[in-house]
Parts: sequence; C-alpha cells; structure tokens
Amino acid sequence: MGLVKIINFNSIGDERGQLVSFEENKNIPFDVKRVYCIYATKKNVVRGLHAHKVLKQVAIALTGSCKFVLDDGYNREEQILNSPTQGLLIDSCLWREMHNFSDDCVLMVLASDYYDENDYVRDYQEFLKTKTNGN
Ligand code: TYD
Repeated sequence: MGLVKIINFNSIGDERGQLVSFEENKNIPFDVKRVYCIYATKKNVVRGLHAHKVLKQVAIALTGSCKFVLDDGYNREEQILNSPTQGLLIDSCLWREMHNFSDDCVLMVLASDYYDENDYVRDYQEFLKTKTNGN
C-alpha cells in the first residue's frame, strides 16, 4: 500500500568523514517548526502509539536503530531506521509505533508544527473511527 515513504539524504564525505544536511521545503517536504529527539530509551519499550490529525514528520535515526510500524487503519507496514542518511516521512492520519530501540539510538524527528496535544489521537479505536468516517 506504500505507507512507508523513505527519503534518502545525500551524504557528503571526504577524508574527515561524513556530513548530512536537512533543509525545509528542500529535502524535508514541509516547513520545519520543531525538532525533537528520542534517546536513552529503556529496554523493550514501545513508543509512539498515536496518530496526528495534521502534523507531518520525518524521523531519522542519527545513531543506532529502531523499528517503525505505520498503520493507516487498513494496512500495517514496518521499516527499520538505522542511518542518518535515511528519513521516514510520516504523513498525517497515520498510526505509528516505534519498537526495538537499540541502546544507542538517537531518533531525531523533524515536525511541521509546534507541539500540540490537541493534534494527537492516542486511542487506537478512536483512530479507526476517524478512518471509517472518511477523514
Ligand atoms: P509523546 O509524543 O507521547 O512521545 P512518543 O514519541 O513516545 O509518542 O511525548 C512524550 C511527552 O513529551 C508528552 O508528555 C508530550 C511531551 N512532548 C513535548 O512536550 N514536546 C514535543 O515536541 C513532543 C514530541 C512531546
């Protein structure tokens, strides 16, 4: 169904190492209003477990790895993130879960808007209802 949309970022390498950059409305397909990081994640936790009504995000594992599950109410798809050159574009109205964080995982998320709890749908049954209502 194509829920997983990967953005491959160009990495510039020379004898000193690598550099990767993220630019709003260029390789990030929206205005970036907020950046946050998830790190020092405890063993076996599952994070996310919500959808956003409007917010779009790009998630990038700067170090380590984690597994994303995306769910549109009809299909579930999985994607492992393990590279600073790979971004997962998470559109609005998608249920997301993050599993299997490595101890060293630093997950950076670029978001199209400021933090707003009213934009969250944190109940899976409520999320499914928004889908059958045609939203
Ligand atoms: P939450 O979105 O529930 O985390 P997860 O990534 O696991 O879904 O956020 C955890 C807490 O942090 C919650 O109290 C809301 C708060 N928070 C902010 O204050 N600013 C932010 O940018 C984000 C993403 C969360």
